Amino acid sequence: LLPILLQVFSKVFSHEALQSYLPKIQQVIQESLRLWSSNPEPINVYRESQRLSFHMAVRVLLGFRVADEEMRHLFTTFQEFIDNIFTLPLDLPFSGYRKGICARDTLQKGIEKAIREKPLCSQGKDYSDALDILLESAKENGTELTMQELKETTIELIFAAFATTASASTSLIMQLLRHPAVLEKLREELRTRGILHNGCLCEGELGLDTIVSLKYLDCVIKEVLRLFTPVSGGYRTALQTFELDGVQIPKGWSVMYSIRDTHDTSAVFKDVDAFDPDRFSQERCEDKEGRFHYLPFGGGIRSCLGKQLATLFLRILAIELASTSRFELATRNFPRVVTVPVVHPVDGLKVKFYGLDSNQNEISSDLLADIKTEELLGAAV
Ligand code: HEM
Repeated sequence: LLPILLQVFSKVFSHEALQSYLPKIQQVIQESLRLWSSNPEPINVYRESQRLSFHMAVRVLLGFRVADEEMRHLFTTFQEFIDNIFTLPLDLPFSGYRKGICARDTLQKGIEKAIREKPLCSQGKDYSDALDILLESAKENGTELTMQELKETTIELIFAAFATTASASTSLIMQLLRHPAVLEKLREELRTRGILHNGCLCEGELGLDTIVSLKYLDCVIKEVLRLFTPVSGGYRTALQTFELDGVQIPKGWSVMYSIRDTHDTSAVFKDVDAFDPDRFSQERCEDKEGRFHYLPFGGGIRSCLGKQLATLFLRILAIELASTSRFELATRNFPRVVTVPVVHPVDGLKVKFYGLDSNQNEISSDLLADIKTEELLGAAV
């Protein structure tokens, strides 16, 4: 990211900003879950989570009101860009590199169109999206961003949010399927706090402060990110020569730190391979035994800028899943999980979703499809 943008970003992910994104995140998630449940066939959770994360990034973060058809096109283009991003830089017709470049150019054109058509920030009112905040605070910092900078930053933001959040969402769903007792405990917490009442999500209760105060939910998300770390590690440059375990690292060297190995080998985690959300409970607090044992979002000044947004998204997804859906694995066994390019199940995780009504009874998929069409006509995300 451009250094100036790093200063500007603190506002984009502030408490106030997150509060204003919340209803939109909720709406994007509800729309997706309704679509998943209205499908009579099992869905590919990883693929659909990618679509959901992309919608979240484009609509919630950037405030683009893109028509469904155009959103589908942007998503396909973005995937083509990602699929070809790590190919050899050989600029030949039909090479992955050429495809990647073409996809990036198409994406940039689509984003430029959306930026130009975007309504200007509503002065003095609550921020509506991250792009508004970005433009405003860049101005406050005495900088006007060029269209090229805006397009590049936008793509970088979507890139940072997309694969990571999709991976974490898929892992969350897989763990809730594998551990029904955890899902039930989550539902119990929602009931106790009056958020889930008679099987219905009480709309007014879901403020940012309430969501953040749900202790067990927090433990579940933390444990998903510990055991299924979406980003395996990061790079740093040694600013001065130092010694690590008797090995000298000279100034200027690139050093890679591994988040996954840290989580796997850290002695603070008891029974390290077990999925056990309670390890993060107030009584046990295994992560509080040292600063750098638990770091799904990296550490230091270059750690993840979107971590509050990512955890808010995952929390809302878990709340919505627990209160409005029933879901079951559509394959005989759970799939193997691979770690490249991000953690994901080999077959994408095939799951059948059912919507639940206020009595926790299943709603027929036809009815859900109708509700969806009607509601979408008036949707304002
Ligand atoms: C579960 C989801 C996510 C995980 C696990 C995650 C993890 C990480 C990690 C580990 C890094 C630092 C890599 C390093 O040490 O070099 C990072 C950087 C970053 N993340 Fe995330 N991230 C997630 C979601 C998001 C979201 C939703 C956004 C929002 C746009 C975002 C924006 C960024 C940005 C802009 C950086 C670069 C920061 C810099 O260059 O200083 N991330 N992320």
